[in-house]
Amino acid sequence: MSALGKIVVLGAGNIGGSLAQRLAEMDVAREVVLVDIVDGLPQGKALDIQESGPILGFSTRVTGTTSLDALQGSDVVVETAGLARKPGMSRSDLLEKNAGIVKGHAEAVKLHAPNAVSIVVTNPVDVMTYYFRAVSGLPPARVFGESGTLDTARFRSFVAEALHVAPRDVTGFVLGTHGDTMVPLLSLTSVSGVPLTKLLPPDRLAAIVARTKQGGAEIVNLLKTGSAFYAPTASQAELVRAIAHDEHRLLPVAAHLSGEFGEKDVCVGVPVVLGRQGVERIIEVDLLPAERDAFRASVAAVRADLDILAKLPK
Ligand code: LAC
Repeated sequence: MSALGKIVVLGAGNIGGSLAQRLAEMDVAREVVLVDIVDGLPQGKALDIQESGPILGFSTRVTGTTSLDALQGSDVVVETAGLARKPGMSRSDLLEKNAGIVKGHAEAVKLHAPNAVSIVVTNPVDVMTYYFRAVSGLPPARVFGESGTLDTARFRSFVAEALHVAPRDVTGFVLGTHGDTMVPLLSLTSVSGVPLTKLLPPDRLAAIVARTKQGGAEIVNLLKTGSAFYAPTASQAELVRAIAHDEHRLLPVAAHLSGEFGEKDVCVGVPVVLGRQGVERIIEVDLLPAERDAFRASVAAVRADLDILAKLPK
């Protein structure tokens, strides 16, 4: 029997399509449903993925629809709908348009899938996660945002490249917002336990941190017509797997803070333990003074966007 019954992926763009494929191939759910307002797009991508099943050996049924009624009875919802960045845009530039989309979807989740764990991906993700949680009224543990696993994957990938070591042996955390003020934590990064700061000189570390912060923009500038989706969906699939198998993974996600790290009433990237019920607990790691300052600045950037959100016409 599959670990999960139904996973609904809202939005069948590059992220939604690639994510549905990864989830089907992971074979963790009885069904994956792609939902989009563009008739034909979710149905077409779903059918294409479904037809790869005999070769790849998965049993998950993949379907597509334009109806949010598909949310009924879902165990996990991944909100990917919304506009993506074009060159020159910041994630915050997407705020107004994407807030309208996220609002409708959060209301639909509240109505049809109040027991689901929801993962928000739509940018600006920290703000959209907060908004999704507020509109849905669901417990903070069951609504969180994906970005830390992605930013950390980029960071780990650049470190592995610089050191010529296996990417999976590099562990670490990127906390804070999914934006220019994200905080790669050098103090908690290691290669199989060997501290990174002992392996690379400060100037090389600074270059990796700078590249990580611009990781999303680097891809947008190369693609020119949209943003990244392979590494983002790998990160999202990792989160869904942690939920499906109740793995209790310690991963960075955008979680709702209620006093942790000295912040409350905001969603931002922090380390959490993730399992079948969503965020089990937030892990308050010790930050170096400079990291703490950077984290505060990162939270301030999210709050500035939350202020803009609060002033939007309802
Ligand atoms: C990125 C976008 C998806 O970081 O936020 O690639």
